Amino acid sequence: IDISDPARALSLPHIRYQLIRLEDTVLFHLIERAQFPLNPTIYTPGAITIAHSSSTSALSFMDWVLRSQEELQSKIRRYQSPDEHPFFPDAMQPLVLPELKYPRILWGNDVNVNAELKQRYVEHILPAVCKGKKERPEAQENYGSSATADVACLQSLSRRIHFGKFVAESKFLAEPERFAELIKKEDREGIDAAITNAKVEQKVLERLRVKAEMYGVDSGMDADAPRKIDVEAVVAMYRDHVIPLTKVVEVEYLMQRLKG
Ligand code: TRP
Repeated sequence: IDISDPARALSLPHIRYQLIRLEDTVLFHLIERAQFPLNPTIYTPGAITIAHSSSTSALSFMDWVLRSQEELQSKIRRYQSPDEHPFFPDAMQPLVLPELKYPRILWGNDVNVNAELKQRYVEHILPAVCKGKKERPEAQENYGSSATADVACLQSLSRRIHFGKFVAESKFLAEPERFAELIKKEDREGIDAAITNAKVEQKVLERLRVKAEMYGVDSGMDADAPRKIDVEAVVAMYRDHVIPLTKVVEVEYLMQRLKG
């Protein structure tokens, strides 16, 4: 996203382009993750002992990898950017680069659905994506690769979902009176209805299905050879998790839109 230019950052065609582009990113990271088994051990708090770790609470291995990544990336300004949200806000470190002055695009808000996203990812999204690997659910030699792929999946999903803030701001600016009234009445359902476009959602799912079918196959593969990614799992992920969580972000962002 071109965050340096507020008018462009909030133009709906530009946002749409970014969202479609992010579908590719999410899909490629998921394909990367799907080559490994589920490895449930890496999501179980305390199941893997991490030597020399400063984190006192028993994190799962994946959480520890994610948290450590966020510690590092916070130092190089990742979470200064209005389209980035940490999973571990308490892990943020002082910058090693000069601070950037981003123009004000979004209204001040503290919306962050990453805890919910991570839970859904571990409990629903990942098991569906890895369900073809049931014969051997654990592969210790790929714990690191799996967790690293998880970080990429979670970060791209988080970015996709929190883009809802830009969508919401753009919609608010298009109809400020209508939204202000709903916000004052705390009519979350009304806001949800005002931001929902079922036709667009259907299109997103259809496009995603085509991409998942396309990216999961190599040219020259037999028609019935196993695909790199379960198409239904990808579509279900968007339908049951990504789209609903994006709406939560939009609604909660708007609920804070008149404050301060
Ligand atoms: N695009 C921003 C930047 O480059 C924020 C960002 C996205 C980032 N991914 C990152 C920063 C990874 C550091 C590392 O600053």
